[in-house]
Amino acid sequence: MWSVPKVLFFTVVAATNMTIVHMLDFCQKADSECQSQDISPSALQPRAQILNSRWNASVLSLIQNLNHFRVSSEKLRGAFPIDEVQGNAVRTVKNCIFSESSPTPLKGRLRLAAVSKDVLEGLLDLDMSVTQSEEFLLYTSGGRCLPGSQPLAHRYGGHQFGYWAGQLGDGRAHLLGQYTNRKGDTWELQLKGSGKTPYSRSGDGRAVVRSSLREFLGSEAMHFLGVPTSRAASLVVSDEPVLRDQFYDGNVKTERGAVVLRIAKSWFRIGSLEILSRSGELDLLRKLLNFVIEEHFPSIQSKDSDKYLVFYSRVVNDTAHLMAQWASVGFAHGVCNTDNFSLLSITIDYGPFGFMESYNPGFVPNTSDDEGRYSVGAQASVGLFNLDKLLDALRPLLTAGQQLAAETVLKGYVDIYKTRIHHLFKAKLGLLGDDVEDDYIIALLLQVMEDTQADFTMTFRQLSEASAQQLHKHNFTQAWALEDLSSHGHFADWLSTYLQRLSRQSHDKDVERRGRMKGVNPRYVLRNWMAESAIREAEMNNFSEVVLLHRILSSPFITQTSAEEAGYAARPPRWAQGLKVSCSS
Ligand SMILES: *[C@@H]1O[C@H](CO)[C@@H](O)[C@H](O)[C@H]1NC(C)=O
Ligand SMILES: *[C@@H]1O[C@H](CO)[C@@H](O)[C@H](O)[C@H]1NC(C)=O
Ligand SMILES: *[C@@H]1O[C@H](CO)[C@@H](O)[C@H](O)[C@H]1NC(C)=O
Ligand SMILES: *[C@@H]1O[C@H](CO)[C@@H](O)[C@H](O)[C@H]1NC(C)=O
Ligand SMILES: *[C@@H]1O[C@H](CO)[C@@H](O)[C@H](O)[C@H]1NC(C)=O
Ligand SMILES: *[C@@H]1O[C@H](CO)[C@@H](O)[C@H](O)[C@H]1NC(C)=O
Repeated sequence: MWSVPKVLFFTVVAATNMTIVHMLDFCQKADSECQSQDISPSALQPRAQILNSRWNASVLSLIQNLNHFRVSSEKLRGAFPIDEVQGNAVRTVKNCIFSESSPTPLKGRLRLAAVSKDVLEGLLDLDMSVTQSEEFLLYTSGGRCLPGSQPLAHRYGGHQFGYWAGQLGDGRAHLLGQYTNRKGDTWELQLKGSGKTPYSRSGDGRAVVRSSLREFLGSEAMHFLGVPTSRAASLVVSDEPVLRDQFYDGNVKTERGAVVLRIAKSWFRIGSLEILSRSGELDLLRKLLNFVIEEHFPSIQSKDSDKYLVFYSRVVNDTAHLMAQWASVGFAHGVCNTDNFSLLSITIDYGPFGFMESYNPGFVPNTSDDEGRYSVGAQASVGLFNLDKLLDALRPLLTAGQQLAAETVLKGYVDIYKTRIHHLFKAKLGLLGDDVEDDYIIALLLQVMEDTQADFTMTFRQLSEASAQQLHKHNFTQAWALEDLSSHGHFADWLSTYLQRLSRQSHDKDVERRGRMKGVNPRYVLRNWMAESAIREAEMNNFSEVVLLHRILSSPFITQTSAEEAGYAARPPRWAQGLKVSCSS
């Protein structure tokens, strides 16, 4: 047999040689609650009761009048001091979490390019009819303030490309407020591209059509792939001219401004804590941590003297899981700085991201990232780096013993990641139970994919769609990715090992295997050329392709006629070769 490649897929390169200690060992000692789910039924019960008395779901219809849609920032304003200085003058801000800042309305005609029904109806209780009004365009682009809204810009810092970058903050985003929907979930609404704030540094506070469209489609696609992420509610484009040097090559072009209304349970980042810790604002650091724990980690007891440690172990665990999920769909974030990493371990800040097409752990979506620091295969290690920075931020609030325990927790990251990625790839291959050969089967397939530059998404999808009989016969007439793989000298070996492994799964019918695999291996991802094609039409105010893509990517596991006609599961078109991601945003 061919030897297992030494470099396993997406392995984590630790800074020091690590002893693997599973965090669960620690958790059991520290806190019996540690392993329980945050949203246990008992935790939800009191909230559900309050809701029943307030809302009667059977009579409540969706909100049809936007004047009845109220957001609030009272909770955030009550919890934290607000910057005493007003206005958007760029400045160094101290002793606060937020500054007051109002969106700057976009100039020129506004057009609604896309809207997510799933977000509007399902999360914001809004009837789709509201999107017909001129008001909706104003509310979702910063032209008018939603009832109750007192917009804020968040102060944070971060490590960018490995180095402490000092104060960053929401440079072109405005937090409009929180909305608690009838399910009892609270969402934070944020506009991106809505103008300058005290944190704009040298930026103009705007976002252009292409990057906004990519964020809208990318975050929605990730959600429907089952990856924790912020969501996008709407995308409004304007005629306001915005100057951008698209490839940082001195070629400045006039583009148009756009605004995305995006929502998340929380927009706090690792950098939100880092800046407080770095500037010695420890009371505020404690306040912010307590708030995040109380709001988002309800199973952690506020009186627990180890609560920051338990919180840290949660973030370590959840981030390891998120990194594995990114890898399992070939998602490369592109800017994994600590200021772009959520404390809730959801995917945020879609910039020069990309879905890997030809399998290549060195795939980098940001064409200016020459070192490949944030390549798809490096993300697991970058996650570890970022969590180490989070620990640094927490240190002033931890005892010496807790710091040691936290370091041990961090060492467990590698193990959590490996276990999760192993599970995810086993599921992608339809493997049940455990078999000593599983690691070998996964690693060899990836090696063959890398050597043949086979398409990542379609390899797994076509293995899901082909019957065992077709695979036995090497019948790849309708499977272009497998056809590419079959040129490899070791592919036949791999396939027979794989088929033997499948045949040892007694009680597993081939049709069940295929069904299972089709449920985890998407047929459609947002390939760069698909986004680019939609962007070209959108630049001419034709949004039909955005709408089509959004619909298709909302059911990525289901074969759809319109998607097949558009060639979304076919070999990428010739014109797409050599396409670059436009990086400035
Ligand atoms: C909710 O409304 C329905 C229909 O009007 C009514 O039958 C039900 O008793 C109400 N439930 C509560 C908890 O008020
Ligand atoms: C780790 O994270 C995963 C995914 O977020 C979650 O399902 C699991 O319960 C977590 N485990 C612990 C010990 O918190
Ligand atoms: C990451 O955070 C920095 C600092 O706030 C911001 O300038 C940048 O736009 C963010 N990246 C993305 C892709 O949003
Ligand atoms: C892409 O990478 C370069 C080089 O590291 C960096 O300067 C630039 O900010 C990155 N672009 C984005 C949009 O993050
Ligand atoms: C190969 O598979 C296709 C379906 O993908 C089927 O239509 C065709 O008959 C098969 N060819 C052979 C030689 O089995
Ligand atoms: C809009 O874009 C779609 C999809 O690319 C295309 O089929 C259609 O012809 C375009 N409409 C106009 C008016 O250009």
